[in-house]
Amino acid sequence: MKLKSNTPLKNDLFLRAAKGEKVERVPVWLMRQAGRILPQYRALRNSLSGFKELVETPELACEVTLQPIDELEVDAAIIFSDILVIPEAMGLPYEMVEKRGPHFPKTIQTLEDVNALKIAEANDIAYTIEAIKLTKKELNGRVPLIGFAGAPWTIFAYMIEGGGSKTFSKAKGQLYKDPNLSHQLLEKITQSTIVYLKGQIEAGADLVQVFDSWAGILSPTQYAAFALPYIQKICDAIDEVPVTVFAKGAYFARPAVGELNCSVVGVDWNMDIKETRQIIPHKTLQGNLDPCQLYAPLSEVKKATQTMLEQFGGQKHIANLGHGVYPDTPLDSVKCFVDTVKEYSFS
Ligand code: CP3
Repeated sequence: MKLKSNTPLKNDLFLRAAKGEKVERVPVWLMRQAGRILPQYRALRNSLSGFKELVETPELACEVTLQPIDELEVDAAIIFSDILVIPEAMGLPYEMVEKRGPHFPKTIQTLEDVNALKIAEANDIAYTIEAIKLTKKELNGRVPLIGFAGAPWTIFAYMIEGGGSKTFSKAKGQLYKDPNLSHQLLEKITQSTIVYLKGQIEAGADLVQVFDSWAGILSPTQYAAFALPYIQKICDAIDEVPVTVFAKGAYFARPAVGELNCSVVGVDWNMDIKETRQIIPHKTLQGNLDPCQLYAPLSEVKKATQTMLEQFGGQKHIANLGHGVYPDTPLDSVKCFVDTVKEYSFS
């Protein structure tokens, strides 16, 4: 039995822009819109044992996914989860340490460690699949729902490093030290990610985004060898819904990312808008205001947002920040960003 909701979308601007169709105005949402910028998120979060309880309880994940839709009236929802659920489903559990971030008690060191990992099944992450079904129902067609996963290289980086890092030097070093182990691990992550994303789509995700948050720390040669081929496999495996690829910081890889079998390419604030449009003329671009711009006075936020919109040109653009919104960003600035996009008319 298919539980997928077939409710038609009342606001499909985001999906139409993703597919490169003409839109009346530029759609807008924010990476990390569900989270600590919202007082209602902080209140719920503080009443729980921790981050994982929120991720692993579908009713709660659904509730925080909807919060920014109600509060900010953005044009898309993104399911509340984390990219680190994939390593856990493969057999490498993570902890989310308060105020410090993710930590893996055990990391991948040897080929035996890689061999001991399983290819994840969507059922291993049943809580997010359930959360998507529930959220689709609760959204009742208000806006599309985005599913997501980390790109294989970024997931690899956490599995080798064991947590966040300024340099990810262990993970990068592993690529040079043992390319064979690296490719085997990347392949297993890729297979798991494809299964997981297909599960999210089956449950109702209208588009899926692949986050390669640590793309920018690789050299162009490493990126071509260890990152792009695996993202390509994911893009080639998914034809049910549009795919967004966000290779953060990898300005050098734009020509290749532009050739991937995806509909949308994420742009960060390091990437010049007009230059990026020239390099990637045929796809929808998503981004790219510097999240730190939101610390400026509201009049400046508004001006910078308008300049960004003008540079993207109004079509084949999904407005967003160049990376996730920082938790201490004033809510009024976030609202100013969203409202400026929604009110802007191209002359
Ligand atoms: O609104 C949304 O974007 C949906 C949810 C979402 C979260 N994480 C929730 C979260 C998404 C899409 C992610 C993706 C994610 N997680 C990425 C890729 C995007 C990016 O930011 O580059 C990465 C690298 C992670 C790994 C991760 N999760 C880190 C490094 C941290 C700690 C840093 C931090 O922001 O505190 C997390 C925790 C996390 N994931 C939080 C949230 C709301 C904060 C946890 C809390 O409430 O305490």
